[in-house]
Amino acid sequence: MSQPAPLPHAALLDPQVAAAVAAIRARASLVPKVGLILGSGLGFIADQLTDAAVVPYEEIPLFPRSTIVGHEGSLVLGALDGQLCVCMKGRVHYYEGYDMPRLAFPIHVLRGLGVERLLVTNAAGGVNPDFRVGDLMLIEDHLNFLGDNPLRGANRDALGPRFPDMSFAYSKRLRDLWRAVAAEQQVSLREGVYAAMIGPSYETPAEIRMLRRVGADAVGMSTVPEVIVANHCGMEVTGLSVITNQAAGLSGQPLSHDEVKEASELARVRLVPLIREVIRRL
Ligand code: HPA
Repeated sequence: MSQPAPLPHAALLDPQVAAAVAAIRARASLVPKVGLILGSGLGFIADQLTDAAVVPYEEIPLFPRSTIVGHEGSLVLGALDGQLCVCMKGRVHYYEGYDMPRLAFPIHVLRGLGVERLLVTNAAGGVNPDFRVGDLMLIEDHLNFLGDNPLRGANRDALGPRFPDMSFAYSKRLRDLWRAVAAEQQVSLREGVYAAMIGPSYETPAEIRMLRRVGADAVGMSTVPEVIVANHCGMEVTGLSVITNQAAGLSGQPLSHDEVKEASELARVRLVPLIREVIRRL
C-alpha cells in the first residue's frame, strides 16, 4: 500500500477537525479533490466510485449523524472517471436540532481531506409553476430563510474572511459546464433559485406563494449552510436540485416524504451520466 500523502491544510484545522480527518485517513489514504453531498434518495451516486473505501459516520469523531430512521450515514472515498472523490452519503439538517457549527463541521472535514470543489445535491419542492416532478434544477443562487448562519460567532481567520462574498456562491464556470454536458446528453436542465426553509413541516401554500414572489424556484431544508461554509473556506461550489414534488398548494395533493424518495429514484437514469461527466471535466 502506498504511503498516505501529508495531511493537506493541517495548519488550518482545529483539533476536532484534525482528529476527524486523521480517523478517515487511517481508513482511506487517497486525497480527494472533489466532494459530493448526496441528498435524500441520491445515495446511489456513491455506488459509481471505484476502489471505494466506506467510512461510517459513527467511526469519525464528532461527525454528526442523521437522526432520521433509515437515513444513510457514511463517507465513501474513491475514484470516479479519474477524479478522486469523497461522497457524503447522507447529511444532517438544521431541523434535526443540530446547531450551525455542527452543520459546518463536515465541510471543514472535507476541506481538511483536500477537497477543493464541492458538488451539493438535494431533493426539493418545485416552487416555479413550470417545474415538474423529476426535473433537474441547476442552482443559480439561494435564499437563506433559516434565520441563522453557520459563520455566526468568532471567525476562523485561517479558513476565510469575516465577511465572505456570496456574489458567486454557485460557480459560474461550473454552471456553464453543467449546461454544456446537459446539452450534449440531451438532458433538460432547469435553472433557478433555491430557498432553504427550516422544516421539518413542509411549507404552507401561503408560504409557497410568498417564496415565489421573492424569487424562489425551488424549496428545501438543506444545502444553504453547507454552501456558505464551503464558500467561506475557499471551495468552488456547484449545486443541483432534483424536483421531487410540486411545492405545497401547486398540485392540489398533500406532500409526503415517500413521494420525495421515489422521485429521486426516478431521476437516476439521467442524473448518473450527467454527474459523472461533469465530475470528469471539473
Ligand atoms: N419543501 C421542503 N423541502 C422539500 C420539499 C418541499 O416541498 N420537497 C423535498 N424537500
